[in-house]
Amino acid sequence: MELEKEISKRRTFAIISHPDAGKTTLTEKFLLFGGAIVTAGAVKSNKIRKTATSDFMEIEKQRGISVATSVMGFDYQGHRVNILDTPGHKDFAEDTYRTLTAVDSVILVVDCIKGVEEQTEKLMNVCRMRNTPVIIFINKMDREGKDPFDLLDELQEKLQIHVRPLTWPVSQGESFKGVYSLYNNQMNLFEPSKTKISENIAEIDNLNDEKIAALIGERFTEKLREDVHLIEGVFEPFNLELYRDGLLAPVFFGSAINNFGIREMLETFLEIAPPPSSREAVEREVLASENKFSGFVFKIHANLDPNHRDRIAFLRICSGRFERNKFYFHTRTEKKIRFNNPTTFMANEKSLIEEAYPGDVVGLYDNGIFKIGDTLSEGEMLHYTGIPSFSPEIFKEVENRDPFKTKQLEKGIQQLTEEGVAQLFTQQPGNRKIIGTVGELQFDVIKFRLEHEYGAKSDFRPLNFTKAYWITADTNAQLDQFITHRSNAIAYDKENRPVYFSENDWMMKLIKQSAVGIHFHTTSEFNHWEKTEI
Ligand code: G4P
Repeated sequence: MELEKEISKRRTFAIISHPDAGKTTLTEKFLLFGGAIVTAGAVKSNKIRKTATSDFMEIEKQRGISVATSVMGFDYQGHRVNILDTPGHKDFAEDTYRTLTAVDSVILVVDCIKGVEEQTEKLMNVCRMRNTPVIIFINKMDREGKDPFDLLDELQEKLQIHVRPLTWPVSQGESFKGVYSLYNNQMNLFEPSKTKISENIAEIDNLNDEKIAALIGERFTEKLREDVHLIEGVFEPFNLELYRDGLLAPVFFGSAINNFGIREMLETFLEIAPPPSSREAVEREVLASENKFSGFVFKIHANLDPNHRDRIAFLRICSGRFERNKFYFHTRTEKKIRFNNPTTFMANEKSLIEEAYPGDVVGLYDNGIFKIGDTLSEGEMLHYTGIPSFSPEIFKEVENRDPFKTKQLEKGIQQLTEEGVAQLFTQQPGNRKIIGTVGELQFDVIKFRLEHEYGAKSDFRPLNFTKAYWITADTNAQLDQFITHRSNAIAYDKENRPVYFSENDWMMKLIKQSAVGIHFHTTSEFNHWEKTEI
């Protein structure tokens, strides 16, 4: 029973956004509410600063900090809240996609001025693959942004999800008055404050209550009444089941920097967001409440500091209770291992843990035994699914600059790609090695690490491809024929699955039309996902 109690307390989620929409600020405000930090600015350093894009060592330093804040946990109103941090930098997008496989829900932050941006759409696509429940927070209402109704339309259209506002803004920018809660008829009045948690809440009986006009003025009261009338007419009432199925996103408005509109969202989040439940493994579905422990590795962080060459594998616990120093079964290598210093990371502090429960993430010191996606269990042969590779956007061929170090180069590339730094594809003839990433930065990281950790010298020759598609076909003959005809754009991933590289969307359209019986998938785990373009 203790296990079930621990599970029902937990909410494991990520805050995601296009860079600059306010993810870091919102994360920080949640931590302030949770008492995990006491001053604003404490997690600011977690953000990879834009000024540093050309200097990857600087970024690595910052990434080092981000390891410390990889999971930010705190207790709030009887709940255990685990926020999984995702890197804001676009070049680390794949890291973010993988982290999303380890959460039970997300809060998506949208800037009210910019609306839905490129990365917002991509992140939402990843959420849709697992039907992850999404809450949307429209941020920066203290600034003049888009009309809230237009924003809702944009969200529905571009993110392909039904939305339901749960709070509603009264004006915005200079004349922003606050938000009205559509579910408990409260008016939360806006007071700009970067440090104080806004508490100026007025309870009103209904929208005809005369108190409202006294608080926000006649003009805004009239507009609020009209808006609410429209909302009730246009949007279905909030439906918990649809939200939990990932089909309906409740929407909140506020201003993260001003601590405004956040408490309502946090408290609603705790009420509606799902606790850890079940997860698909290749062999069967595993319930969080099963007594036996299991979990999977979704992220590996290598330390670039030559004095501390350790790696940390991040394990999401899926079922049972994890205990320090107990032997567990590594299902890929079929070895038993135990961990004597499993760690949690909380707001810049690492601490040793004795036990952890489903929904928790533990850091395991790793000397090279883990690969992204590895499963640990108490002996059962389980392989968790749902940690796919996504199509990279930049492709380069590896060139060996020192023939005497060929072995080192191969080993280095093998290991770095297992860590998830980049994806490796092999092309025939000649065993050509092609590295795929979502950002240029990874090539600097790989080159540096190959040289410093493996003593290998490499260069990368840019290729004209922009997307990889995992391919299947109705018949083997069709697949063979396609591979033969398109051999210069075919390579094999690390599991030896054939992949087609495309140069642009326009060409791809033509290829898709002409390739009868061939199916193109933008993730490696196409069997488990609906077809979604990232
Ligand atoms: P990110 O993690 O999503 O990239 O965004 P972050 O929280 O760092 O916020 C991006 C910028 O937007 C920051 O300004 C931040 O202060 C600002 N911001 C966040 N929430 C609000 C809000 O509610 N209203 C307004 N007006 N601005 C907001 P910056 O100038 O880039 O950084 P800083 O100098 O303030 O740290």
